[in-house]
Amino acid sequence: MAEPPAIPWWRDAVVYQIYPRSFQDTNGDGVGDLAGVLRRLDYLSWLGVDALWLTPINESPDDDFGYDVSNYYDVHPALGDLGTVDRLIEAAGRCGIRIILDIVPNHTSDRHLWFVEARAARDSAQRNWYVWADPKPDGALPNNWRSAFGGPTWELDPSSCQYYLHQFLPSQPDLNWWNPEVGDEFDRILRFWFDRGVAGFRIDTANKVVKDALLRDNPPLRPTDPPMERRLGQRPVWSSNRPEVHEVWRRWRAVCREYDPERLLVGETVLDDLETVARYYGDDDELQLNFNFPFVFADFTAGALRDVVQRTEAAFGPGRWPVWTASNHDVSRFPTRWCRGDRRRIGMALLMLLTLRGTPFLYYGDELGMTDVPVPTDRLADPLSHRLPGLFRGRDPERTPMLWRSEPGAGFTVPSMEPWLPFGNSGLSVESQRNDPASTLRLCRDLIMLRRESSDLRAGDFGVLDAPDGVWAYRRGSSTVVALNFGDEEVAVPDVRGRVLIASNRERDGAEVPGVLRLGPAEGAVLLSDSAYSGCQNLYELR
Ligand code: BGC
Repeated sequence: MAEPPAIPWWRDAVVYQIYPRSFQDTNGDGVGDLAGVLRRLDYLSWLGVDALWLTPINESPDDDFGYDVSNYYDVHPALGDLGTVDRLIEAAGRCGIRIILDIVPNHTSDRHLWFVEARAARDSAQRNWYVWADPKPDGALPNNWRSAFGGPTWELDPSSCQYYLHQFLPSQPDLNWWNPEVGDEFDRILRFWFDRGVAGFRIDTANKVVKDALLRDNPPLRPTDPPMERRLGQRPVWSSNRPEVHEVWRRWRAVCREYDPERLLVGETVLDDLETVARYYGDDDELQLNFNFPFVFADFTAGALRDVVQRTEAAFGPGRWPVWTASNHDVSRFPTRWCRGDRRRIGMALLMLLTLRGTPFLYYGDELGMTDVPVPTDRLADPLSHRLPGLFRGRDPERTPMLWRSEPGAGFTVPSMEPWLPFGNSGLSVESQRNDPASTLRLCRDLIMLRRESSDLRAGDFGVLDAPDGVWAYRRGSSTVVALNFGDEEVAVPDVRGRVLIASNRERDGAEVPGVLRLGPAEGAVLLSDSAYSGCQNLYELR
């Protein structure tokens, strides 16, 4: 008999996102560093995560904290050096943990030597690595495109009287992916890091990399346009999701396939339409994973989450593997946004994230139920809070330092040092939760361990089960059932027979369920069911 196809490692993985500036400071400057990630490998190994995604570690002037790269082949001196990366990859590997880096192919810093060279003269060798355009004959901007960070996407370069394109900050000029030299250079960058043992890349803003070659005007919004599409105040049809972008990802995937095991590409495409999100997987020849922002931004209700998960399952089909994440460095943390700090809801959300069909990505601190931290105006660091004052809360509240211990410095930095962003509630620290069996941290860890042991949870198919209003119940594989009560009242979920494996209220672990599952307000449970589920349980599975 033919060998069954090997399951790629990332399907079974739980990935943990680290914002290195905020994870662990080892040199007492109030800013986290890569040596800090190394120092915390024991913890990460105890937690049971399989891979770390580090937000950009490349050299950068930090206008956008690493998302403005000035050298793709080296490490930001505040974070460490190439030697530290090598040691991290090696030591993490010994713990069975892989390292995924962030790559920013859409734009560079304006201090990158490529751009310095490009803007030096109209005929400079690297001019065409970026997107330049003349003003219109009447002196107007080359087109009407809007930047995701406010204002037009065009910045005038006074010495050459041409504009350059920037879909984010003016100091983040967009690269010109129509120029084959740019593609060749990024192939070299990928191989440079893959050769060092990096397991994959999270690709920043993967749907914006190729722009319309004719730079046509984007059309106005329609009343029916969904929220993420509305953000720019226009329909980004010529500046995003261009068909040619898929050629870039096919090319990158071919580079990934040069390695064994094949390297991983995870895309960031902030899009409402799940069919378009699915398209970035190609025919298993583009990205292996793509973040699901409709899920991130769904309301925390049974109806909204059930709907987005079912729509994802329908758009992806069996061949594409979803990603489930609820927090990251750009959005309010889910314990605040979804759960308003309610520990019961935070536990239920973790139980959901770790039991859906797909790869969960946790953001550092999710396992503690870390909430957003209000940042005083005089300490705001995110350029967006300065660029869009009053309009945008900025992204500092979700980027504050990890809480290791309940003492000055929080175990993050030396007690006398004020960290780069303020600390949150030290009562949530690892130290205060690690030995408490009822804590959020222990729940998260136990769910990760359960997932490791359960082939239903790792690989089983997904089907929605009938449940009363306010409850979302689904099965995984043939014998695992998950039920989540989003309501504020106790509910009885009929036709559930089996044993509770883990409940968000840990006192229920191990309880027998004779036929009706009672769930308290904001309570969730994973059960091993006595009924074998097979075939169609609901209409969705009939499609
Ligand atoms: C990153 C942001 C960054 C932006 C520009 C993204 O979507 O996640 O943090 O500011 O790209 O690079």
